[in-house]
Amino acid sequence: MNKENLIKQYKAIYKKSPTHIIRAPGRVNLIGEHTDYNEGFVLPIAIDRYTNMFVSKSGDNKMRLYDVKYKEKEEFDLNIIKHSQQKKWSNYQRGIAKVLLDAGYKISGMDVLIFGEVPEGAGLSSSASIEIATLLSFKELYDLEIKPIELIKLARKAENEFVSVECGIMDQFASLLSKEGHALFIDCRSLKYQYIPLSIQDYSFLICNSMVKRKLSESSYNKRRKECKNALRSFQKIIPGIRALRDISIEDFLRYGALLSKKSRKRVEHVVYENERVKQAVEVLKKGNAKAFGELMYQSHISLKELYEVSTEELDLLVDIGKDESGVLGARLTGAGFGGCVIYLVEDSCVEKLKEKISDVYYKKTGLIPQFYEVVPSDGAVPQKLRLEFRGA
Ligand code: GLA
Repeated sequence: MNKENLIKQYKAIYKKSPTHIIRAPGRVNLIGEHTDYNEGFVLPIAIDRYTNMFVSKSGDNKMRLYDVKYKEKEEFDLNIIKHSQQKKWSNYQRGIAKVLLDAGYKISGMDVLIFGEVPEGAGLSSSASIEIATLLSFKELYDLEIKPIELIKLARKAENEFVSVECGIMDQFASLLSKEGHALFIDCRSLKYQYIPLSIQDYSFLICNSMVKRKLSESSYNKRRKECKNALRSFQKIIPGIRALRDISIEDFLRYGALLSKKSRKRVEHVVYENERVKQAVEVLKKGNAKAFGELMYQSHISLKELYEVSTEELDLLVDIGKDESGVLGARLTGAGFGGCVIYLVEDSCVEKLKEKISDVYYKKTGLIPQFYEVVPSDGAVPQKLRLEFRGA
């Protein structure tokens, strides 16, 4: 769907033109899974798939929404923001409006047309991209002074408190602040970040959607969070003063891990070594060592499968198919798991062959037709040239 077409639709619905077009990308995480809410390290990139929002002030206190994909309208009053059971997709906009109002920002209504390109339920952060696009729309229309880190925190708050997914901070961060051609290395405790150039020439990242929607993902995700909290509590009895699983070193884990219950030990082991892998990944990327990076991806997947237990048979199969193909350096599930996507690091000249092989073997074994996304590491929602406005993040 092109821009002109969407503007035409906007005019047909709202009898006026949009004053702003805002877009925010989805993301794919290269490595560092389930570490963000344990105050650890992550390494995502933004992808060139966006939630596009065409907006203008509504002139009253109402939010009017039209979602092109669902072909559905929705409307709510900013004075009474409640959950919608019927049109769940609108809960993201509701949540964002609510957190802004609760934080004391002066906003009023908007007329919105939404065109989402980020696949849903695939672990590519369509939710975060909607949240960030909605926040930026309010920011632009009502001249809100909000620093990027504050925007990121508000978006996460909306998801935690309104949508009730206790997500960490990675997705919103990546959607807002990623940089073209770079991975975003985030310390999820200090919220300091660094851009790591992706100078692994002749290799690209290929994403493959297992087409298994992340069923029950919310409850399973929240369950993992609880398990981490329990494991932390047990560890705090051994090493008082630690604040998060991030504070456990490999030495601590090797010395005291045996004192934990089996489940806690597995979860902690994943987090401790995954944090280490992210730091190593940054180092090998800086050296342009694609092979070493791919190795870390495989290790991460095994850990997510065996220790954190968030993989599925389909995701494992996709990773295994990659292992046997020439030109594939690494593969792992990406995002929360329980379905969704696998990301491969593959030599450019082997991408087509890999896609064919996957399509063939995966369909034969599962009856599912996988979907592929060849993605380019992209800018976050705040374009680089406008970043100056945001100085002081
Ligand atoms: C989801 C969450 C993130 C992160 C990942 C797992 O995408 O939204 O905060 O926890 O899962 O790494």
